[in-house]
Amino acid sequence: MMHCPCRGRLKLLLASLSFIILLTWLYLLAGNLENGRSLLLAPCLLESTEARFLEREVLASRVRQVEEENRQIRLQLSQSQGQTEGNYGNQQWVASADTGAEDVENTAEERANHSECVRSPTAEKCELIHVACVCAGHNASRDVVTLVKSILFHRRNPLHFHFITDTVANQILSTLFQSWMVPSVQVSFYDADELKPEVSWIPNKHYSGIYGLMKLTLTKALPSDLSKVIVLDTDITFATDIAELWAIFRKFTAKQVIGLVENQSDWYLGNLWKNHKPWPALGRGFNTGVILLYLERLRKLGWEQMWRLTAERELMSMLSTSLADQDIFNAIIKQNPVLVHQLPCFWNVQLSDHTRSEQCYTEVSDLKVIHWNSPKKLRVKNKHVEFFRNLYLTFLEYDGNLLRRELFGCPSQATSESTRLQKALEELDEDDQCYDFRRERIMVHRVHLYFLEYEYTSTEDDTDVTLVAQLSMDRLQMLEAICKHWEGPISLALYMSDAEAQQFLRYAQASEVLKNRKNVGYHIVYKEGQFYPVNMVRNVALRNAKTPYVFLTDIDFLPMYGLYDYLRKSIVQLDMANTKKALVVPAFETLRYRLSFPKSKAELLSMLDMGTLYTFRYHVWTKGHAPTNYAKWRTATTPYKVEWEADFEPYVVVRRDCPEYDQRFVGFGWNKVSHIMELDALEYDLMVLPNAFMIHMPHAPSFDISKFRSSPSYRFCLTTLKEEFHQDLSRKYGAAALKYLTAQRNI
Ligand SMILES: *[C@@H]1O[C@H](CO)[C@@H](O)[C@H](O)[C@H]1NC(C)=O
Ligand SMILES: *[C@@H]1O[C@H](CO)[C@@H](O)[C@H](O)[C@H]1NC(C)=O
Ligand SMILES: *[C@@H]1O[C@H](CO)[C@@H](O)[C@H](O)[C@H]1NC(C)=O
Repeated sequence: MMHCPCRGRLKLLLASLSFIILLTWLYLLAGNLENGRSLLLAPCLLESTEARFLEREVLASRVRQVEEENRQIRLQLSQSQGQTEGNYGNQQWVASADTGAEDVENTAEERANHSECVRSPTAEKCELIHVACVCAGHNASRDVVTLVKSILFHRRNPLHFHFITDTVANQILSTLFQSWMVPSVQVSFYDADELKPEVSWIPNKHYSGIYGLMKLTLTKALPSDLSKVIVLDTDITFATDIAELWAIFRKFTAKQVIGLVENQSDWYLGNLWKNHKPWPALGRGFNTGVILLYLERLRKLGWEQMWRLTAERELMSMLSTSLADQDIFNAIIKQNPVLVHQLPCFWNVQLSDHTRSEQCYTEVSDLKVIHWNSPKKLRVKNKHVEFFRNLYLTFLEYDGNLLRRELFGCPSQATSESTRLQKALEELDEDDQCYDFRRERIMVHRVHLYFLEYEYTSTEDDTDVTLVAQLSMDRLQMLEAICKHWEGPISLALYMSDAEAQQFLRYAQASEVLKNRKNVGYHIVYKEGQFYPVNMVRNVALRNAKTPYVFLTDIDFLPMYGLYDYLRKSIVQLDMANTKKALVVPAFETLRYRLSFPKSKAELLSMLDMGTLYTFRYHVWTKGHAPTNYAKWRTATTPYKVEWEADFEPYVVVRRDCPEYDQRFVGFGWNKVSHIMELDALEYDLMVLPNAFMIHMPHAPSFDISKFRSSPSYRFCLTTLKEEFHQDLSRKYGAAALKYLTAQRNI
C-alpha cells in the first residue's frame, strides 16, 4: 500500500503546534505552583509576583489567540478530507497531540487526484542535496534561519548549504551553524564582495539590490565540480521534503538547465498600468525565488557569457532592471525557451498583490513552498493567508535544538566539533553527583550573533569602552533605561528560546529608544538544559565586544549619567593601555521602584545618608563589595587601589583581552567571584574610581537565597566546583594562587 506522506506532514506540523501549546499551558500551570522550580536560576531571572502574573496573562492570551488560529486551520484542513497518516521515518519524535483530525486511510483512487499524491519521484536515499542562498545583512540572516528550519524539519537527506554572504551574514551564519551542530548538514560560505564586480555594472531598482543579481553568477561562484543546486530566496518556507524538489532534476530533458515556476503576478504581461513596460519574458514570466540550476550543463552552454550578453542588450533599451536577476533570467528564457523546465506552481506559491496564487493549488494541503515576496510579507491577501502565516510562525518559533536529530540510516559525517563534544560527554562519569553541572559546562548552545541591525564606528582615540551584560526575557524592560544612561556601545547576550527571541524582536522593533540605537549588539544564546549557564552567556557578550575596553556589568544596574565619558577619560588617565588594571565602579542599590536617579556623587551621598540608597547587597551579602571601601570612596577625589579579598565581586572596566568567565559556574553562586579571583591571580590592580557609580534597580526580593543555600546537592556541587577551580588556578598561576585556597578555608 502506497502512502501519501505530504498531507501527513502538514498534520504533523499542526500536531506539533498543538503540542507546543499544550506545553505552554502546562508551563503556565506549573508557573502558578512556583516553588523551588527556579532554584537554580540566576537571581536576575526572578520577577515580582505581580509582574509575573501580568506576563502570564499576556502569554495566556497569546496562546488563546494561536489556538483560535489553529482551530481555523484545522477547519480548512478538514475540508480537504481524507487525511492519510504519513509514514514518518525519523520524524516520529514529534508527539502527536492533535485531536481534531481523523486518521482515515485513503483509497488509492482518491489520492490519485491530489497533486502531491501523484507519486512524486524522490531523491535517492542518503543522496546529498545542495542548496544555495544569497544572504546579506542582519535581516536576511534572520529570515534565512526560518527557511533552514523549515527545510530541516522535513528533510531525510544530508544537506549541503552554500551561502553567498557579506561579512555580516558570514559572521552570523558561520557562528550559528557551528554552534547548532546539525548532523548531516554541511555549510560553505562564499564572499559576496568578491562577486560584486561581476554584477555591479547592472543598474537595478529592486529592493534586493546587488545581492539579488548574484544568483546569475553561481556557475562561477560555486565549486566547479558541483553539478546541481537548488537556489532559494531567503523569504521562503518549505511545507514538504526538499528531496521531492531535488528529484525533479531527473525529469529535465537533455536541453533543460533551469527549473522555474511561472510568475504568478501579472507583471510581465505588461498591463499593470499605462505605459508599464516590463522586461521581455515568456508569457507571465518566471519567478526566481526557487530555481533548480543544472550547473554542469549551464557551464557547458557558456552561461556566463549568455547572461551578460542578454543583460547588455536589454539594458540598452530598458536602462535598469526592476526585478533584479529575475528580469535577466526571463530575458534569456524568452530567447531560449528550451532551457526552462517549468515546475508545478506549488513549488513557489507567491504571495503578493495581483497574484493568481490561489489558482495555483486546489487545496491548502497541496502546497509545498511558500514565497513571501518580502517586504510585503504576512500582510497579503489570500484566502489561506492565515494558514501560511501559521506555518511561517511555527518555524519562526520552532525550537531549533529539536532539529539536531541524527538522520537514520545515512552515514553521518561528524564534524570535528561534534566529535570533540561526543568524546567529552563520554568521559563524564554518569554516577558523579554533579554530572548535570559538568554536562552543562560542555554543552554547546546555539548562538545567533547580531540578531538585530548593528553598526559601530570605532572612536579614533582607542579608548572606547563597551558595556557588557547578559539577560533573559524577564529583564527586557531594563534595556531602554540602560540605553538612556549609556550612549556608548553595548554588547548584550540574551538567553532565550526561539519563541522568546521572536518576542524580543517584536519588542525591539516597537521601541523608539531601541530602534534608534544601532551600537547595541544583541546576541541570542538559545536556551537548553536545566541550568542558567550565566558565565557562558556572559562570555558570548564579552567576546563580541568590539572596543579595546569593556565594562562588565549586570543587566539590573543603571550606570550614572555620563559614566561612558568618565570611563574613557579614566582609561587615559590611568594608562590602561600599558598597565594591567581593573577599574572598579562602586555599586549601590535602591529598594524603591521609583527613584529619582542621582545626578551627581554629592546627590548620591545625601541619598545614602537619608536611606534612599544603600551600598550594594548591604543587607544580604556585604562581603561581595566591602573591599571597595565605601567609607574611603565618600571623600576620595583620585582613584585608589584596593586589595582583593575572598568573595569580592565588583563591577569592573578592563581591557578586552581579559580572561573569560569560568563556564563551570552555572546558575547562582560564584560566577563573578571566580572571574575577579582570576584577574587578581593575573596581578591586575583593582582601582576604585572616585567619581563613578552604578545603582541596582529593584526587582522584588522574591528570590530566596537561603533556599538555594540549603539545597544540599547544589551546595555540595558548588563546593566541589570551587575546589576544582582553585586547583586549576594553582596549576595555571603557581604558588601565588595558593592564597585563594587559604582565603577560602577561613570563611
Ligand atoms: C480525477 O479527476 C478527473 C477529473 O478532474 C476525473 O475524471 C477522474 O475520474 C478522477 N480520478 C479519480 C481516480 O478520482
Ligand atoms: C531591517 O528591518 C528593519 C525592521 O523591519 C527595517 O527597519 C530595516 O530597514 C531593515 N534593514 C534593511 C537593511 O533592510
Ligand atoms: C512577479 O512580478 C511581480 C510584480 O508585481 C514582482 O513583484 C514579483 O517579484 C515577481 N514575482 C512574484 C513572486 O510575483
